[in-house]
Amino acid sequence: MRRPLVAGNWKMHGSRETVTQLVQSLLQSEVVGVDRVVFPSLIHLSSVVDAVSGQFSVGAQVCASQQEFGAFTGEVAAQQLADLGCQFVLVGHSERRQLFAETDAVVAQKFMAALQAGLIPVLCLGETLAERESEQTEQVVLRQLAAVLDVGGVSAIAKSVLAYEPVWAIGTGLTATPEQAQAVHKILREALAKKDAQVAELVRIVYGGSVKAASAAELFAMPDIDGGLVGGASLNAQEFAAICRAAEQ
Ligand code: 13P
Repeated sequence: MRRPLVAGNWKMHGSRETVTQLVQSLLQSEVVGVDRVVFPSLIHLSSVVDAVSGQFSVGAQVCASQQEFGAFTGEVAAQQLADLGCQFVLVGHSERRQLFAETDAVVAQKFMAALQAGLIPVLCLGETLAERESEQTEQVVLRQLAAVLDVGGVSAIAKSVLAYEPVWAIGTGLTATPEQAQAVHKILREALAKKDAQVAELVRIVYGGSVKAASAAELFAMPDIDGGLVGGASLNAQEFAAICRAAEQ
């Protein structure tokens, strides 16, 4: 049985005041049997780690690709994130791939740097609308997965979480249908099963892309969808709590 995971990616949102309020509201909701993770901006990580005192896990939205400390102005090392109390880090989010030119190779390096530091990488995979319309979805997500498999092998994937996030569904209000999402999750799990059936069975694959409380239960009911990676709706504590409760069932 895979334990559901619901994560909130706060992206570049929030001030010290609003982040404090959000954390306080989140701490009031009780959810059983679901791993909850929040991904604040780097500058808010320390205060959020202190405030959640173990009730949630905390992750960073980015880390450096370099495994060792060094002269990399502006970067934050995975081991610095671990030292701060983070447990997770997002890698390969489509906004990083598209807006900050992170290639498959860079994503794989960041994935390995995260593992090396003892963090759990959440590897984001997903196709653009043009890729879906030209029936390249499978090819794209398998290529993105292979970039990490080639470097770290299936044992590296075993220590991670996968997040299927179709680019056309992110921040658009256009959620993939449960069937569309399930089909891709199944493709990913089957690809892993060819390498190692047990890893395929155990790895959590969460869905992201306009997840709302209203759509969460149907998505999470699908056999290969193990939770969600929530953007906009995670900035509202009530909405996020409702999404977490949908994962309880
Ligand atoms: P939205 O839920 O705002 O579509 O964002 C999804 C996402 O990118 C989470 O990482």
